[in-house]
Amino acid sequence: MRTVPATCRSCGKCVRPAWRHVTTARRFSVSDTGEPILVVKDLVKHFPLTQGIVFQRTVGHVQAVDGVNLELYPGETMGLVGESGCGKSTVSKLIMGLEKPTSGQILFEGKDVAAMSRRELRRYRRQVQIVFQDPYASLNPRMTVGNIVAEPWDIHPDVVPRKERPRRVRELLDLVGLNPDYANRYPHQFSGGQRQRIGVARALALRPSVLVCDEPVSALDVSVQAQVMNLLEDLQDELGLSYLFIAHDLSVVRHLSDRVAVMYLGRIVESGTHADVYDQPAHPYTQALLSAVPVHEPALRGAKERIVLTGDVPSPADPPSGCRFRTRCWKAQQICVDQDPALVDRGQGHPSACHFAESVEIVHTD
Ligand SMILES: Nc1ncnc2c1ncn2[C@@H]1O[C@H](COP(=O)(O)OP(=O)(O)O)[C@@H](O)[C@H]1O
Ligand code: SF4
Ligand SMILES: [Mg+2]
Repeated sequence: MRTVPATCRSCGKCVRPAWRHVTTARRFSVSDTGEPILVVKDLVKHFPLTQGIVFQRTVGHVQAVDGVNLELYPGETMGLVGESGCGKSTVSKLIMGLEKPTSGQILFEGKDVAAMSRRELRRYRRQVQIVFQDPYASLNPRMTVGNIVAEPWDIHPDVVPRKERPRRVRELLDLVGLNPDYANRYPHQFSGGQRQRIGVARALALRPSVLVCDEPVSALDVSVQAQVMNLLEDLQDELGLSYLFIAHDLSVVRHLSDRVAVMYLGRIVESGTHADVYDQPAHPYTQALLSAVPVHEPALRGAKERIVLTGDVPSPADPPSGCRFRTRCWKAQQICVDQDPALVDRGQGHPSACHFAESVEIVHTD
């Protein structure tokens, strides 16, 4: 346990609003044992596929998540990246308890969430919060912004005393860069970027330590994406949050991630530090994703080889035998059909699930 003097990091004299003072001070007394705060162990979620109207029978399973392992350390950002339909949102729903795993474990501060007492579960539900992808669908259009942000306190009333709530709502709106006077407005009166800020304020209301961000900027205009990303980065610095940051594009999480896991068809195919994955990717799928990152500088266009993946992502209800990526991989051989490659380090310094893993040096031209 690292104990650093609990003074306000920003001012040193606690002249900031109470909200910021409390959270900033909390950061410095956070348990820092070098242990991950959140661990996902062999997580599996298979959705049954049913047929029939009156008598429903199971005819198969959608293997949405099939043996995912992740570790999130205090204060870090873990990027989870993969194409649409690869199981990212299912991972986030399993972590949030919105879906029940078929098998596997989720550990918070070393404790299995499935074996937690009511009290521990309550604390877990406070400590781990989510920011959803769609800021239009995730806010109740009939509630004022103030009530949306304050809603989590109805379930956890001990976090903020009732009479302090209006003031705390204003502080939260201020924290996410919104005018506190907007607390009485309704979601439709805000732009997409502003709505996502409201979603972030609501997620912060319970003073969480982990934020699962499920593609929080994908539904926003490109010009607004950077503003929301910068806000999340500032909040992490200020509040010491840990992020599991989900994106379908490696470029989105590039500036934020400390470590990255790349997902394909329900499994992690490569994971490593920011430098491992962005500068020396070993798995062909990661290499293809990185080659698709657009080059902004006109003079440098054509300087990097573009790998175009052919074919669609196979159905998770009937994934290919052996390596799941083999139907789209230009390096595939017979062993890839016969043997499922384990996610291990094959000499590249970080794990990848490929029989023929080899680091490719990426020259970033953007
Ligand atoms: N409730 C559900 N019932 C059946 N299939 C589902 C359900 N939720 C997700 N899936 C399927 O699981 C797969 C992964 O979905 P999802 O986790 O949403 O992927 P991503 O977030 O990466 O786009 C998809 O094929 C999707 O259709
Ligand atoms: S195991 Fe084979 S098919 Fe899979 S990524 Fe490696 S080379 Fe391609
Ligand atoms: Mg999703």
